[in-house]
Amino acid sequence: MNFNTIYEAAGGAPAIREIVEKFYPKVQAHPLLAPLFPEDIRPVMEKQYQFLTQFFGGPPLYSDEHGHPMMRARHLPFPITKERADAWLDCMRRALTETSLPEELQALMLERLSGPAYHFVNS
Ligand code: HEM
Repeated sequence: MNFNTIYEAAGGAPAIREIVEKFYPKVQAHPLLAPLFPEDIRPVMEKQYQFLTQFFGGPPLYSDEHGHPMMRARHLPFPITKERADAWLDCMRRALTETSLPEELQALMLERLSGPAYHFVNS
């Protein structure tokens, strides 16, 4: 693949939308993750869309609206264990497999997210 950013390689906004739409139902169905999230998941989905867009090299939608991401700090109110980081990444892995993104790109996205996921472990 010969692209400047993961965002571009994935095909931009529609791909990020699709990932987010496929990811949160899995989070909401996961026994370890569901209790942490609000019933109205739409605002979280919107923020995740904005964040992943910039995280994968697209326009800085999250920072434009919410300021510095400080993602570890924003996760501190929630007890994140290693098991929850594993679960989060597994939901993301399964969401990615439901897209038509090339497998190597899926693997790259997952690898890029695994650093932050384990970095957010705080409990
Ligand atoms: C490690 C496991 C993780 C757990 C258990 C977790 C859980 C949560 C929870 C409970 C929220 C707050 C929902 C609310 O608004 O009430 C949240 C918000 C968020 N999470 Fe995670 N998260 C994890 C990993 C990640 C990763 C790896 C990323 C991206 C790299 C991420 C990105 C976000 C974003 C962008 C928000 C919205 C922040 C905001 O309120 O502005 N999370 N997460």
